[in-house]
Amino acid sequence: MQNNCAVILAAGQGKRMKSNHAKVMCEVLFKPMLGWVLDAVSDSGITDICTVVGHCGNEVKEYLNGIFPVVEQHERLGTGHAVMQAKDFIMEHEDYHVLVLCGDAPLIDSKTISDSYKTHINNSYAATVISAVVKNPTGYGRIVRNDDGSLKAIVEQRDADEQIKQINEINSGAYWFSCSALLNVLDKLSNNNSQGEYYLTDAISLIIENGLTAGSHIAHSENVVVGANDRIQLAALNELAKNMILERHMLNGVDIPFPDSVFIGPDVIIGRDTKILPNTIIKGKTEIGSDCVIGPNSLVADSVINDYTKLNNVQCLQSEIDDNVTIGPFVQIRPNSHIMSKAKIGDFVEIKNSVIGVGTKVPHLTYVGDSDVGANVNFGCGCVTVNYDGQVKSRCNIGDNAFIGCNTNLIAPVKVGNNAYTAAGSTITDEVPDHALAIARSRQTNIKDWVKIKRPRKQK
Ligand code: UD1
Ligand code: CA
Repeated sequence: MQNNCAVILAAGQGKRMKSNHAKVMCEVLFKPMLGWVLDAVSDSGITDICTVVGHCGNEVKEYLNGIFPVVEQHERLGTGHAVMQAKDFIMEHEDYHVLVLCGDAPLIDSKTISDSYKTHINNSYAATVISAVVKNPTGYGRIVRNDDGSLKAIVEQRDADEQIKQINEINSGAYWFSCSALLNVLDKLSNNNSQGEYYLTDAISLIIENGLTAGSHIAHSENVVVGANDRIQLAALNELAKNMILERHMLNGVDIPFPDSVFIGPDVIIGRDTKILPNTIIKGKTEIGSDCVIGPNSLVADSVINDYTKLNNVQCLQSEIDDNVTIGPFVQIRPNSHIMSKAKIGDFVEIKNSVIGVGTKVPHLTYVGDSDVGANVNFGCGCVTVNYDGQVKSRCNIGDNAFIGCNTNLIAPVKVGNNAYTAAGSTITDEVPDHALAIARSRQTNIKDWVKIKRPRKQK
C-alpha cells in the first residue's frame, strides 16, 4: 500500500447536528469521527493522507496537528468538488491508487480497506466502490448494475426513480481509484443534478464511459457505511460502536458482567481476567493490565494501569498506576501522577502531579499535590500538602518510611526525611531531618475548674 494515498472528505457542515463545530469532530466513544477514519487508513498501511477541510477548518487542522496535509474547500459544492481540491496531492501519486473516504463514516475498518484494494487490483478496476447491502437504504446512493452484473452508475436518493430506490446495495462513500483514471475525469464532473452539486459518484460513470472498468466491493459488515446526520443518529452510532468494542474485549477474556453501563474507547487495551464493573468509562490512550478490577463508577482516561490493581469509584486522568495498587472509593488521581506498586489510596483522597512510592498508604481525606513521596510512607487522616501560596506552586518531598500524623499541613517547598514523623495537627514549614519527630503546634494547657467558674452556658 506504500505508494498509494488517501483523501478524506471532511469539509461538510452537517447542519442537522446543530453544532458550532466541524461535523467530523463529533465524537463516537469520546473520539472524533475523523480520528476513527484516520486510524483505519493508517492501520491499512497508507501513510500519505490528505484531508479536505472547510466548515470550521481551523479546528480540524488543529486536530490534525500538522501530521497530515490539508487542502481547503472554500465552498461546499459537493463531494466531487471536494476531491478536485486535492488534485495536486493526487497528481503526486499519479502512477498509483487513491482511496477516497468520508470523514463522517467512522466505522470503516482497515480490513475493508485492504480487502477492497485486493478487489480493485485483482480485477484491474479503474474505480472500485466500497458498497454495502443494508436493510434500509434510504438516503444513500444506490449501486446500479448492467444486466450482466457489471457496475453501471451510482444514483443518489434524490435523483433516483422508484425502481432504483428499491435497490439495497448502497454506496458507502468510500472508493479506490486509479489516480490517472480519476484525474482524467475530475474536470469533467458537472453539477447538473437535483442538488446542483458536483457528485464524486459521477466520476464512476465517466470512467466507464472512457472504456475503463469499474466494480464494487461489498463490505463484510453494513456498519462500515453508518454515519450520523443528527444527534439521534450519533447516539445510535455510539451504541453500535460501544457494543462492537465491548464484544472485542469480552472475546479477548475481559470480564464485563453487566455491559449496559460500561463504555470503552476504541484505543483502550485491556488484559485478560480484568473485570470492568458498571458505570465505568475508560477512554483515550489507556492501557490496563490483567486481573484488575475497574469500577464500579469509575472514569479512566489516558492512563496506564498495571496488573492486579483495583479502582473503585475513582477518576484517574493521564496517570500511571503500577501493579497491586488499591484505590478508592471516592478518589481522584489527577494528571501526571505515578502510583507505585502495592500503594493504597483512599477513600476521599486527591492526588495531583505526584509520585507515591511502593507500599505507601494515603488512606483517608487527604490531598497530595506536586509531591514526591517515598516508599512505605503512612499518611494519617486529613493531611494536606500546601502546594500553592497564591502565586507559585512548590513541591513537597517525603522520604521513605515517613509517618505523617493526622491533620498535618506540609507547607511546600518542604522536605520530610526518611523515617521521620510529624505529630498530629502540625503545620510543617521547615525540613524534618531523618529519624526526627517534628511537633509544630502549641502545647496543651488545662485551666482548672474554668467551666465551674465561668459558667459559659446556662444550666438546664
Ligand atoms: C455521499 C454519496 C452517496 C453515499 C453517501 C455515503 C455523493 C454525491 N454521494 O452522499 O452516494 O451513499 O455519501 O455516506 O458523493 N463533503 C465535503 N465537501 C462537500 C460535500 C461533502 O468535504 O462539498 C464531505 C462531507 O464532509 C462528508 C462527505 O463528503 O464527510 C460526504 O458528504 P455528504 O454530504 O454527507 O454526502 P451524502 O449526501 O451523504
Ligand atoms: Ca453523509
